[in-house]
Amino acid sequence: MNHASFDTIQREYRDRVEAALDGFLSGMDATPKRLTAAMRYACLNGGKRVRAMLVYASGEAVGANPLLLDTAACAVEMTHAYSLVHDDLPAMDDDDLRRGKPACHIAYDEATAILAGDALLTLAFEILAADSATPADIPRRLKMVQCLAKAAGTAGMTGGQALDLEAVGRNLSRDQLATIHQRKTGALIQACVQLGALCGDASTTELAALDQYGRHLGIAFQIVDDILDEVSTTATLGKTSGADRARNKPTYPSIIGLETSKRLAEDLYRQAIDCLDTLAKNAYTLRQLAEMVVHRTY
Ligand code: IPE
Ligand code: IPE
Ligand code: MG
Ligand code: MG
Ligand code: MG
Repeated sequence: MNHASFDTIQREYRDRVEAALDGFLSGMDATPKRLTAAMRYACLNGGKRVRAMLVYASGEAVGANPLLLDTAACAVEMTHAYSLVHDDLPAMDDDDLRRGKPACHIAYDEATAILAGDALLTLAFEILAADSATPADIPRRLKMVQCLAKAAGTAGMTGGQALDLEAVGRNLSRDQLATIHQRKTGALIQACVQLGALCGDASTTELAALDQYGRHLGIAFQIVDDILDEVSTTATLGKTSGADRARNKPTYPSIIGLETSKRLAEDLYRQAIDCLDTLAKNAYTLRQLAEMVVHRTY
């Protein structure tokens, strides 16, 4: 089977989710202006769009209608954008730079950034529940809402972020760090894959395989984020490099060393793509995305 190149696919998915995000953010009540401007700033200011791409690619791998994937792709990007806005706040990681530009609380102010985050998370659920471009059957839609809620909540990202902050300056075991990474970052990545799969006709076996793929990839994603924080530059990352060390955050490189971290990310990548062997349809894009997540340079 011939494939469009991965570059082309990435561009298509990125354009697609950005147009849809723009549509949703233009469609909401435009007041208060400062709040809605901050939401647009946080959501439409670049970003790799890996989570949206995972929704599209997972849906594609189980034969979902691409038109039904836009809403879930936007919902995960809104949730992610909210998490970054709050993650950068002075009370959390206190970072001034995000996606190569002033963080939301610097470009606006702290209160506006907090509210923009709240509103982005809320909008994610509003569109998932109400928009017509999601699967029509209600049980499936409810499952999607539940899936995102779980990933964003205490069992997932919010809980993981709380653990991450508690861990500052402490010695963690490798297992404790794995739990933090799985929850603060892995859970949402895993949900992206599940959401795409819920839009198609995946068998139970396929759903389980995709879920495992998402789990491995989610942890690998944060390991690579930790590695890049150590080895890359602020200019390349568009966020402050060396921030983890400066803030005494336990990370994979700080606990198991740089080389072992790289090997672990590689192992997780192999495990992730091995999960795709059981899928009936071609999982070319999911394979390429895993490759990109683990071997990216920013
Ligand atoms: C950064 O995520 C935050 C983490 C969960 C590690 P990304 O690296 O996906 O950030 P953007 O969306 O490309 O800016
Ligand atoms: C971010 O982890 C996790 C979430 C935003 C949920 P980091 O704090 O390492 O992300 P960056 O490095 O600031 O993007
Ligand atoms: Mg953080
Ligand atoms: Mg951070
Ligand atoms: Mg980081």
